[in-house]
Amino acid sequence: MPKGSFFITTPIYYVNDMPHLGHSYTTIGCDALARYKRMCGYDVFFLTGVDEHGQKIERRAIASGKSPQAYVDYVTGAFKKLWAELDISNDHFIRTTDPEHVRVVQHVFQKLYDSGDIYQGRYEGWYCTPCETFFLESQLVEGNCPDCGRRVEWLQEESYFFRLSKYQDRLLAHIEANPDFIQPATRRHEMVNFIKNGLEDLCVSRTSFDWGVPVPFAPGHVVYVWLDALINYLTASGYVDDPEKFDRYWPADVHVVGKEIVRFHSVIWPAVLMSLELPLPKKVFGHGWWTVEGEKMSKSVGNVVKPEDYADEFGVDQVRYFVLREVPFGQDGDFSRASFVYRVNADLANDLGNLLSRTTAMINKFADGKVPEPGEWDEADKRIPEIAREAIDSAAGAFDNLAFSEALEHIFRLVDAGNKYIDDAEPWNLAKSDAGRSRLGTVLYNLAESLRIAAVALSPVLTTKSAELWHQLGIDGDPAAAGWDATRWGGIAPGTRVRRGDPLFPRIDVEAALQEDAQGRTPQHSPDEGGDREQKRDQAEPAAERSVPGDENLISIEDFARIELKVGTIIEAERIEGADKLLVLQVDIGAETRQIVAGIAKHYSPEELVGKQVVVVTNLKPAKLRGVMSNGMLLAASTTGDPMELGVVTPDRHVPAGSRVK
Ligand code: MSP
Repeated sequence: MPKGSFFITTPIYYVNDMPHLGHSYTTIGCDALARYKRMCGYDVFFLTGVDEHGQKIERRAIASGKSPQAYVDYVTGAFKKLWAELDISNDHFIRTTDPEHVRVVQHVFQKLYDSGDIYQGRYEGWYCTPCETFFLESQLVEGNCPDCGRRVEWLQEESYFFRLSKYQDRLLAHIEANPDFIQPATRRHEMVNFIKNGLEDLCVSRTSFDWGVPVPFAPGHVVYVWLDALINYLTASGYVDDPEKFDRYWPADVHVVGKEIVRFHSVIWPAVLMSLELPLPKKVFGHGWWTVEGEKMSKSVGNVVKPEDYADEFGVDQVRYFVLREVPFGQDGDFSRASFVYRVNADLANDLGNLLSRTTAMINKFADGKVPEPGEWDEADKRIPEIAREAIDSAAGAFDNLAFSEALEHIFRLVDAGNKYIDDAEPWNLAKSDAGRSRLGTVLYNLAESLRIAAVALSPVLTTKSAELWHQLGIDGDPAAAGWDATRWGGIAPGTRVRRGDPLFPRIDVEAALQEDAQGRTPQHSPDEGGDREQKRDQAEPAAERSVPGDENLISIEDFARIELKVGTIIEAERIEGADKLLVLQVDIGAETRQIVAGIAKHYSPEELVGKQVVVVTNLKPAKLRGVMSNGMLLAASTTGDPMELGVVTPDRHVPAGSRVK
């Protein structure tokens, strides 16, 4: 019998960019909470999605030569793919281009207008398109956007306004009466100060572009992208279309967002809901931001962390664990490859993995491979179930407060206690005497049981490895499905036959992992030694000049046909920091867009490449160049002289992207 509903949301992410560590962080955190709540018996509705409208996205689509719809379809696909790879268990994925969402936005806009809370006026002021935010002159920092530091634009438009100012006092009263509404407390204080400084009415329509939801009664106006986006939470929970669902899930239990958008969720959004006379979300949680090796993560710096690369290299659960364990959820943190490797080795390989392999090895050696019946208990043995209980209760409290790092720390207290218990009890000595053997049964049982419990409690984070852990302990079934109650002591049956397997978390070879990184992790191609990939191939295969007709080096037409060549259109080009010969390109090859790293930065600027058609080898094994994934290769003609001359191969006339070259 479910305990009640629990509605949890991530922000809906802009599709002007591919998903990265930042988006994944929020989504993994929400996923862990959703999984934990399901285990506790709640009827969970976990929502994520994408924010597909707005000027920024329209501009990006134009730059990439695609229609806005084709462009958003493509990036949205990348978000969905990443969430599947990271084992995200969302119950729904909303897109703001979904027709039912468009209907709900129009309905809400009309309703606000009819009630008099939206009125017509004229906007004159500053706008930051990357942040899709309006600012007062006094808010700018040296004339730039106070949030992202970029240039703002002066707008003069006939617009509609929402009476945000009207809700100032009610908002303050609500925040004061509900200390949990904005978490953590630092964010609450910031918001209270912000509101006390005075709220201005908010411009909620735009006329200078049209990639948005049309204002129902005003041709030429589209709904401001933030109002459109916030309404996603209502659409997805059934407002307008499904009153039963809406009744079941609204209000949201928690909107989890990055700290930079707490303001939209705890000021604008509740005011809109007040105007609609709907209950407010119970909590807005603003988590901290990741920097990378001390720097802000950004495409221009070239330090964007792609979680899929880490997941492919080290494992999905390792990524999920690292991001939630390394930094308390409300605080900022720094990501580095070294800290990732150290944390995974220390906690997962050494502590948890070792405890499992030590335990199963000893059960094999001293108990014929079966979890023994407990025998005599001394004081140290009695402490283990107590430690388990304390750890689990504290972890549950921490999960409930979105304190994931703390929750994991508590569960690892049990793991650490298990390892120490082995060192102190010395089972190998107990096995030597009859008296010792009775206690040995207790020790081995307690170890297996502690591991069983730890797997249940870790399953919201370690979605795959917790099940593997159970399997190695000889338990059939899935720890997540067993529910949080399965953390109670005594679940493993004596006589359970353990199944020793591969190490749960293979130890990462630190030197190799960090060394590779320093060299750009380019096992097959080393851009800095041999120049670009094309050059490297020239050096490795100087076959063309040496072969003579009739020579066995000649290839057949079938050999040639094995190389898949296609025409692609370059839609994005960027430099890679620290690699002055390399550019990272996004190339549309018809059915998909490929990321290709090409050693042509000395010969082309990124700007002159965008829009150019090129010939791409599309069935080349992917490789990493300077840590950046390259999935394909451009054809280029070059001389060997110094300076080298180079020109990329391009079709003589425009052909559709994806056309085969033969
Ligand atoms: N579309 C709006 C949200 C609308 S919600 C109604 C938006 N989108 S976004 O693509 O810019 O995503 C912002 C969110 O991504 C942040 O709130 C945070 O959840 C996550 N992050 C993006 N970069 C991040 C870091 N560097 N570190 C941690 N999380 C960050 O804003």
